[in-house]
Amino acid sequence: MDTIKKTAEMENMKAKLSTLWIFLMFNMVFADIFSFMYPGFLEQIMTGKTDVQITPEFLLIAAIVTEISIAMVFLSRFLKYGVNRWVNIIGGVITIPVGEVPPPDSSPVPYSQGRFWLVNIGEQTISDPRQPSVYPVTPGVKALYMVCVHLGCLYKWVETQDRYECPCHGSKYLKSDARIDGPARRNLDTFVIEAVDANGNVIARTEPEMSSGEGSSVLITPEVVSLRIDTGKKIAGAVNTKPGGGI
Ligand code: FES
Repeated sequence: MDTIKKTAEMENMKAKLSTLWIFLMFNMVFADIFSFMYPGFLEQIMTGKTDVQITPEFLLIAAIVTEISIAMVFLSRFLKYGVNRWVNIIGGVITIPVGEVPPPDSSPVPYSQGRFWLVNIGEQTISDPRQPSVYPVTPGVKALYMVCVHLGCLYKWVETQDRYECPCHGSKYLKSDARIDGPARRNLDTFVIEAVDANGNVIARTEPEMSSGEGSSVLITPEVVSLRIDTGKKIAGAVNTKPGGGI
């Protein structure tokens, strides 16, 4: 009886994993479609004048990431439990050497293959007077999901305004993730980050913030050699509905 129950549970888990990969694919496809509808965006891509440099290497990485997602829809169904678990974990984790992390308070760096912006929050970002006081931020690194929490467009970093702006309906967010304007109703979503030392030990990890429940920053201490961004573990941004930001 137990064996039958266990087999049923495993099949159920395989179906859930496969469905999650389908869900991810739909999100990726529709985020791109909505972005293409924004006036001038297609033209920017054709002329190569986008924030992200579109090179043959970029397209190759994008193709590999897309192919992995498609393959995982099937593999999640048919691989044995142990292999399945590891393939799903590895498929969604991106490792970044600490030397590639942007310096504190510099412009966010896009990681299109993982669909996140990597941002290093320093004192300047923390003391930004636009930061709503109900969402205090701490120093360290965050991985912000590239998709706008309003209706799923890809927002962009606008250097001259020192903020992210969504081309679709005008939501605006600070470097930290805080929404400060527009129809979005929460701060940006973030991915879980683990800071790892030379022996592979996890020495810091994104935790839900005490006050807001959204993902915390991960501080880079001298022993950290790399960061692991788990794009399968998303933490929802805190509720934020007021003009200028706040609850
Ligand atoms: S999708 Fe970004 S503001 Fe509507």
